[in-house]
Amino acid sequence: MSEKLGVGLIGAGFSAKFHVKSWVGVRNADIVAIFSRTEKRAKELAALAEQLGVGKPKVYTDIHDLLRDPNVNAVWILTPNNTRVPIVKAIVEEAEQGRGNLIGVACEKPLARTVAEAKEMIKLVEKAGLLHGYLENQVFSPAVVRGREILWKYGAKYAGRPYLARAAEEHGGPHASWFWNPTISGGGVLLDMMCHSFEAARYMLLDPSKPKDALKPKKISAEIASLKWTRSEYIELLKKTYSVDYSKVPAEDYATAVVVYEDDEGNIVLSETHTSWSFIGAGLRLTFEVLGPEYSLWINTLQPELFVFFSRNVKIPPSEEFVEKQNADQGLMPTIPDEAVTYGYQGENRYIVDCFLERKQPEENWYDGLLIVQLMMAAYKSAEEGKKIDFKPEELETYVPKVAKGEWNPRSILE
Ligand SMILES: NC(=O)c1ccc[n+]([C@@H]2O[C@H](COP(=O)([O-])OP(=O)(O)OC[C@H]3O[C@@H](n4cnc5c(N)ncnc54)[C@H](OP(=O)(O)O)[C@@H]3O)[C@@H](O)[C@H]2O)c1
Repeated sequence: MSEKLGVGLIGAGFSAKFHVKSWVGVRNADIVAIFSRTEKRAKELAALAEQLGVGKPKVYTDIHDLLRDPNVNAVWILTPNNTRVPIVKAIVEEAEQGRGNLIGVACEKPLARTVAEAKEMIKLVEKAGLLHGYLENQVFSPAVVRGREILWKYGAKYAGRPYLARAAEEHGGPHASWFWNPTISGGGVLLDMMCHSFEAARYMLLDPSKPKDALKPKKISAEIASLKWTRSEYIELLKKTYSVDYSKVPAEDYATAVVVYEDDEGNIVLSETHTSWSFIGAGLRLTFEVLGPEYSLWINTLQPELFVFFSRNVKIPPSEEFVEKQNADQGLMPTIPDEAVTYGYQGENRYIVDCFLERKQPEENWYDGLLIVQLMMAAYKSAEEGKKIDFKPEELETYVPKVAKGEWNPRSILE
C-alpha cells in the first residue's frame, strides 16, 4: 500500500456528504471510490470530492466491484441501518476470497438495529481479520474533546471525578423516508439519535487514564413518546412526504433516559440524555452539560460564534446553508461556519485513517457500538415495561423493540 490510505465510501447520501466535506482536513488518505445504488448520486458526490481536492473517486453501483478495487484500502459504511449485516457480509466475502486490498472498515452510527445484528457484524469482521472503527462523530467534536480534556486535567484532578453528564440531540425530524419507517430503520429517535447522546455522555464521564470498562452501566430508566408526529395533521404530512402511516406504524419522536453507572472506586455517576424529532428551533441542537463537585461545562451548538440576520424583505428558498435541519430562513439565524468540523466528522476521520494506516484498532470501535446498542435496547425495554431495569446485556441478545416490530402503541405510555 502507498503511504496514503485509499478510502471507499459505501453510500452517497446525507452523511456521506458530511464525510466528503470533512476530508479537506484529513491527511494521508484520499477518497478513491464511492458506491451508491443510484449512479447519479454517487457521481454528484464524486464531483464534490474532486472539487474539494480530496480524491478523484471512481463511481460504483455494484458494491462487490468497489470492494475488489485494488486502490480501496478501507471502507466507510454510510448506508441505512437495515443494510449493515448484508454489507459486512459482502465485505467479508471479498476479503476472505483474497480479493481487494482491505485493511479496515468504519461504520456509521447506530452500529446496528439490535444486539444480535451488532454481534454478528463483529463476528464477521473479526473472522476476516479486518480492523473496525465506530463512526460516533460527537466524541470527536472539538468542543466535546477539549471540554473533556480540561475537566479531567483540572476539575477531576483537584476536586474529584465528574458525576453527571447530560447530552441531547434534537431536531424536527429526519430527511429520508427509511428513517421514518421503524420496521426498516429499527426504531425512532431513540435508535437514531440517542446512540450519539449515550456515547457522548459516557465519553465525558470516562476517566481518560483508565480502560473504558472501569465505568460500568448498572441501571437504566427510559421513556419514549410520540409527541408530534401522531397528531392527525402530521400523520397526513408524513403520508404525503415520506409514504409512512403513523396511525398504524408509528415510531417515537421523543426519548429520555437515565443511565446509572458505577466506577471502579464505587462512585455512582449518572448520564441524562434526551433526543427529539419534535424539536422546533433554528435547526439541529446539540447540547452537553457536565457537572463535577466544584466545576461544570456546557456546550450548545445553536449558540455559535456566528449569527446572520435577514429582514422580512429577504426571501430566500428553504435551505440548510446555515445549520443542519434548519427550520427558517429569516430573522436571526445561528450559523455554524464548518459543520463537518463542529459535529466531529473531521476529527473522527483523521483519527480512524491514522489508526488504519498504523494497523491499529481504533479506540472507538464496534465494541463501543455494541455497548451503545445494548444501552438502547435496555432503554426501549425499560420504556416498554414502564420501570427502571438492571442493565443485563445477556437478557437483550434476542430482544427486538416493539417499535421496530411495528407493534408500538404510543398510548401505552399511560399504562
Ligand atoms: N453521524 C451522524 O450524525 C449521521 C447523520 C446522518 C446519518 N447518519 C447515519 O448514516 C447512515 C446513512 O444515513 P444518510 O442520512 O446518509 O442516508 P441517506 O441520505 O438516505 O443516504 C443513504 C445512502 O445509502 C444508499 N442506500 C439506500 N438504501 C440502500 C440499500 N438497501 N442498499 C444499499 N444502499 C442503499 C442510498 O443509495 P441511493 O443512491 O440508491 O438512494 C444512499 O447512497 C445511517 O446509518 C444514519 O444513521 C449519521
